[in-house]
Amino acid sequence: MTPPSATRVETLRWSAGRLEMIDQRVLPAQLRYLSYDSAESVATGIRDMVVRGAPAIGCAAAYGVALEALRHRHAPGTEFSRAMQRGFEVLAASRPTAVNLFWALRRMRLQWESLAAYPASAQADALLAQAHEIFAEDIRTNRALGEHGAALLADGARVLTHCNAGALATAGHGTALGVIRSAVEAGKRISVIADETRPFLQGARLTAWEMVQEGIPVTLITDNMAGFMMSRGEVDAVVVGTDRVAANGDVANKIGTYMVAVLARRHGIPFYVACPMSTIDMQVADGAAIPIEERPAREVTGFRDDQWAAAGVAVRNPSFDVTPAELVTALVTERGVVHRPDRERLEALARG
Ligand code: MRU
Repeated sequence: MTPPSATRVETLRWSAGRLEMIDQRVLPAQLRYLSYDSAESVATGIRDMVVRGAPAIGCAAAYGVALEALRHRHAPGTEFSRAMQRGFEVLAASRPTAVNLFWALRRMRLQWESLAAYPASAQADALLAQAHEIFAEDIRTNRALGEHGAALLADGARVLTHCNAGALATAGHGTALGVIRSAVEAGKRISVIADETRPFLQGARLTAWEMVQEGIPVTLITDNMAGFMMSRGEVDAVVVGTDRVAANGDVANKIGTYMVAVLARRHGIPFYVACPMSTIDMQVADGAAIPIEERPAREVTGFRDDQWAAAGVAVRNPSFDVTPAELVTALVTERGVVHRPDRERLEALARG
């Protein structure tokens, strides 16, 4: 057990032929890495929320594919292919909402299919190189979108965020928190209001921790305090991440985001959504078609082993909600800022 330190957050890292991931279930009390050597174990890590956040899940899945290839690099061709197919399947079944998972798996599959003529060991090496590239690209992307988004924040802005779209949710820098970090790097005095984010507490446990580590002023509130803060004029902007943007600009993000967006509109506060292009899913027409994960009841009836609700009570636990495009002031991507996103503007953005 190692206490958290002030070092740069390395959410995922490749070490001695294995994937290591910070166990985000136990932060901030403990900073511990868990080690992974197969697609199946990585899929379990994603499902159990050891790693979470759309881009980080995509990176983990890419490494999961590479690990499966490395594990079977000396196997005969048919056995290697069977293991790989199964690896892709278990990873794709881990969590349904973040499209970055499927985007990364598609990239890995295309790479794999292009290598059919090579021996398994060469395929494994190339797949690992591709996973490293997806990881490195995510950091570059977040830096680029961070700079675009930073321009939207005024010096002195008090920025409310929901869930954790930080370094812990990506390969590094973050999306929503990347915008905040870039603004701070540009010399702006930014303070953060972090929604606690029931039921998994990503805001209280992860966003607050990231900001405290870096000395960026942060104030933690429970989710039901956001309206009060806005009504008192204490919020200048909202910046959140997203797990999937539909072709019409509807945005799926952590449960509670929709509530924040409605409140922001009521109070005339800009509501910004930051994400890489890989989070935009032009195959899904609108938010109603985005698959929404339902997580276990015990996340709502209590937290970890502390269960406080009456045993046997009926529970709903949708992990995400959809904010309609009309409530989104702007979408911030590595290609730039799209104000009032809709199908036409997203199609233009996708064309580059
Ligand atoms: O359930 P989680 O913790 O994976 O949900 C994460 C979020 O909702 C994030 O806001 C989203 O993935 C964007 S992360 C850059």
